[in-house]
Amino acid sequence: MIRVLFVCLGNICRSPTAEAVLRGRAERAGLLAHLHIDSCGTAGWHIGKRPDKRSEHVAAERGYDLSTLRARQFSDEDFRRFDYILTMDRDNLTQVVTRKPHHCDAHIGLFLDFISSSSTVEVPDPYYGGPKGFEQVLDLIESASDALLEKVRAKLS
Ligand code: 4NP
Repeated sequence: MIRVLFVCLGNICRSPTAEAVLRGRAERAGLLAHLHIDSCGTAGWHIGKRPDKRSEHVAAERGYDLSTLRARQFSDEDFRRFDYILTMDRDNLTQVVTRKPHHCDAHIGLFLDFISSSSTVEVPDPYYGGPKGFEQVLDLIESASDALLEKVRAKLS
């Protein structure tokens, strides 16, 4: 089992989108049984809330259901619960890395690093922007999810 945790700031826009998109694409690729997928936020402002309606809406249009997800905050226990801790932007990465214990074997990095050709290294925070930002988040997350699934397939073979 490969355990993947997505991290953003609020856990209501980007990381729940990544959780649902990777789950959906892994299912289609026949890889879901090999994956445990979760998401969280570095901040605790939205704990227990469902994703932002705008994220739910654009994701639903592409066939991903975010409605059952609930926000939670990153915890130090996540360092041993997950093999991959993938953040949406550099701020999230700094927040996680500064808490990393010495004995932690997890791969910690930017999610978009899986797309080697990408000039965009961060999934931009869409919260204060318009609808186009939410579409862009989905585009980036779909591409990075497929790249991650290629790695998963290689690891399993
Ligand atoms: P997320 O977006 O980190 O992608 O979930 C945000 C959600 C909420 C806030 C900021 C970003 N906020 O300021 O409440």
